[in-house]
Amino acid sequence: MSTIPEIKTTLTKLLGIRYPIILAPMFLVSNVHMIIEATKAGITGAIPALNYRTDREFRKALEELKEKSNGPFGINLIANKSNIKLKEQLRSCLDYKVDYLITSLGNPSQIIQKCHKNGILVFCDVVDEVYGKKVSDLKPDGLIAVNNEAGGHAGKLSSKELINRLQSVSDLPIISAGGVGNGKQLLEKLDEGACGISMGSPFIATEESPVSQDYKEACIHYSAKDIVMTTKLSGSPCTIINTPYVQKTGTRQSMIEAFLNKHRRFKKLAKMLTFYKGMKSLKKAAFSSTYQSVWCAGPSIEYVKEILPVKKVVENLLREYGKAIGLIVN
Ligand SMILES: Cc1cc2nc3c(=O)[nH]c(=O)nc-3n(C[C@H](O)[C@H](O)[C@H](O)COP(=O)(O)O)c2cc1C
Repeated sequence: MSTIPEIKTTLTKLLGIRYPIILAPMFLVSNVHMIIEATKAGITGAIPALNYRTDREFRKALEELKEKSNGPFGINLIANKSNIKLKEQLRSCLDYKVDYLITSLGNPSQIIQKCHKNGILVFCDVVDEVYGKKVSDLKPDGLIAVNNEAGGHAGKLSSKELINRLQSVSDLPIISAGGVGNGKQLLEKLDEGACGISMGSPFIATEESPVSQDYKEACIHYSAKDIVMTTKLSGSPCTIINTPYVQKTGTRQSMIEAFLNKHRRFKKLAKMLTFYKGMKSLKKAAFSSTYQSVWCAGPSIEYVKEILPVKKVVENLLREYGKAIGLIVN
């Protein structure tokens, strides 16, 4: 564990961790090994339940996390109707009494109620103050402010603007997600009023990450300027690396897809098909060598220079944080 003294914030108190950092849930990327190492490094981490094909696999992962984690861990649930496995996933989280849930999309009311009855904390992803207020009224334990520098389905507002707007409608603790790749930026987010960060992209190229060597190396060789938004994967804008394949195939849905995705009668089915197709292409690109390189990552890959263990990524960040606050001189 880092020799940097504890950084005490509302998030570290809520979760009982040493540093206010969540290894963010990442579809196809975050896995049990990464989370175990995160907890050993004094932070916490979360996995999307969607990363498991079956409930059996999901429960096996929860069992391993319970047994081997050195601190709290979380699970990310998609809370809208597109997630047909939501009930089953929530049941498993309650059975294994995970430490916290991170909800994305939808109405997390039921999730919050059930989790609170079972002593489980809930943090909700939000991208603006309108949804932030709605969710805040349901009394979760914190909001995750997904800003315009985040990897994945990024928000539209800068981190500072989003935190300010959320503070104007809610008293809940705010965790900032997006754009952190070094310790100076961690300090900036805390100064902006966040009680912690949720950091994803810089962990893609770690030794414990399950994705292909090509994907990891892409995170090293490409930088912030190479990140583009595509609507091809899920219908909603999502950040990907602008590889030659992406340049060739474009980042916008075809006219027919876009039409069907908006059509009153067909949109539900069309969205499901887009999502299914998009996830399939992401999966193919994430785990195997293929020329169809569609790799999801955010601009914070700018700070990724080599493949390191999760522990080392955390240590480096904390050392830079130590320098930024004047605790470390060189
Ligand atoms: C590859 C990738 C996959 C992601 N998958 C999910 C997901 O399944 N659920 C979710 O809530 N957020 C997801 N995110 C968003 C992260 O949880 C987090 O908000 C984001 O990584 C923060 O920005 P950063 O990448 O600059 O650190 C994903 C991000 C990335 C880069």
